Amino acid sequence: MAITVRPFRSADAPRVAEIVHRCLREVNSRDYPADIIDMMCGHFTAERFIELSRCRLVYVAVDHVVGEDERVVGTVSRDGNRVYSMFVDPVLAGRGIGRRLMQHIETLAADDGYDHMETGASLTAHGFYLKLGYTDVRETETEFGFNHILRKPLSRPDPPRARRDTG
Ligand SMILES: CC(C)(COP(=O)(O)OP(=O)(O)OC[C@H]1O[C@@H](n2cnc3c(N)ncnc32)[C@H](O)[C@@H]1OP(=O)(O)O)[C@@H](O)C(=O)NCCC(=O)NCCS
Repeated sequence: MAITVRPFRSADAPRVAEIVHRCLREVNSRDYPADIIDMMCGHFTAERFIELSRCRLVYVAVDHVVGEDERVVGTVSRDGNRVYSMFVDPVLAGRGIGRRLMQHIETLAADDGYDHMETGASLTAHGFYLKLGYTDVRETETEFGFNHILRKPLSRPDPPRARRDTG
């Protein structure tokens, strides 16, 4: 797989919604009741992603196969140092795509001067964030059920190297 991360475009919306619905029905449904899953599927429509992209920075991971059109395989969103809507095509889970998406937005947040990242994790994704170095801050009940709130310190980008005086 040759995965890159780029900003979301409106044309990605149907595929992004499809990935999210598949995650919810096939993966998150192991941890959450059917009424919550139905509510989330109703919330995360293609139109909603287009709306969200006007107020958050939405990214997609795309797979490039030689001779074929690029294919969207995952998504994540950022509002400052907060993470939203992290979903990877269940068929491609466990291949580093989620880590790649998180590294992308963590780097951008560090470049913007944030010293930590914060995420609300589903029961399903809690272990994923722990693996990426996040630690638990608190627990919360949301309209979409129980969530873990986790944080991870961000390292500051290297300052520009001081010019050496060769005179
Ligand atoms: C959770 C999710 C985003 C992870 O994406 P992914 O591409 O499968 O994750 P990666 O392959 O980058 O995994 C990175 C590491 O985390 C581990 N990991 C991934 N998902 C995990 C999980 N649910 N629990 C524990 N560890 C997990 C991987 O084994 C890997 O560990 P390694 O570095 O030792 O090999 C993805 O499985 C998903 O979309 N799940 C359903 C939707 C969901 O719950 N989204 C989050 C909403 S808050």
